[in-house]
Amino acid sequence: MIRKLHASYRDYFPIGAAVNTKTIQSHKETIINHFSSITAENEMKPQYFHPSEHVYNFEQGDIIADFAAENNMLLRGHTLIWHNQTPDWFFTDQGKPVSRELVLKRMREHINTIMGHYIGRTYCWDVVNEAVSDKAADPCLRKTPWLDAIGEDYIEHAFKFAREADPNAVLFYNDYNECDPVKSQKIYSLVKSLIDGGVPVDGIGMQGHWDIYLPQIDNIKRAIELYASLGVKLQITELDVSLFRFEDGTSYQEAPNELLEKQAEKYGKIFELLREYKDLFTGVTFWGVSDDTTWLSDFPFKGRKNWPLLFDDQQKPKMAFERIMNF
Ligand code: GLA
Repeated sequence: MIRKLHASYRDYFPIGAAVNTKTIQSHKETIINHFSSITAENEMKPQYFHPSEHVYNFEQGDIIADFAAENNMLLRGHTLIWHNQTPDWFFTDQGKPVSRELVLKRMREHINTIMGHYIGRTYCWDVVNEAVSDKAADPCLRKTPWLDAIGEDYIEHAFKFAREADPNAVLFYNDYNECDPVKSQKIYSLVKSLIDGGVPVDGIGMQGHWDIYLPQIDNIKRAIELYASLGVKLQITELDVSLFRFEDGTSYQEAPNELLEKQAEKYGKIFELLREYKDLFTGVTFWGVSDDTTWLSDFPFKGRKNWPLLFDDQQKPKMAFERIMNF
């Protein structure tokens, strides 16, 4: 009998995976057996949904949404307002910058149309993704075309438009390096000022692109407690545990066993912590299904093979899977 990951965590939180229109076929069994929630890896990003003004392309997103519905899975909407994978037309007219009013109008229509299309199918949305800068010396908000065109209140407008478009959707602010002591403080301050100003932010998405060394469990714990003090819902939205430090370019043909053991240990500790905080978490999503399709085999080093997930290149459960199933 198959031991199903999502069934083991039924009393804790839904377990999700990022999928795409290929993996829902090639990895169908693994997805259905182990996950109860999905996120589109790319298909629901601005570049795909809204390639030019008034042109929407829901074909790929709908394939993912249909898969979720057919298999009784939750669907996370990802993502509406971001600086990457977002076409330039939002901010320009024949190559020239347009007014703040026009960009706001375009933003509102974008959010309204997309959320409206998926109403009742996506239970939550990453409304704004990665708006905070990484370095201590930089201002809180990352410099992006949205910030340049609208100003600091672009985030507040995005959340208000989102609430208006689908009053029932749970609205997330989502970011990476979310456990870093400097950046977590910035994320906290941003979300606090939004909430204090009456902006409808319901949750913080902690992306969770981690590795076997960092962040340390204590820092994850500290970040969880910091964010939870705002009274928002929490999710891990893009979990993977790389075998390498970010800047380490070492490459291997096969995953060294010693590193897979460290990975299992790290995953074990992460899930022990998440189970402890189960009342705060409404979802834990992995960024991919199995090691053969991870984005980390092309990032940050092109072609440097990585093995960051619970299932191996043949979709077989790894040590890390066993570790988080045994509790
Ligand atoms: C960020 C985004 C995701 C994805 C990953 C890399 O974390 O939120 O949508 O693009 O980067 O795959």
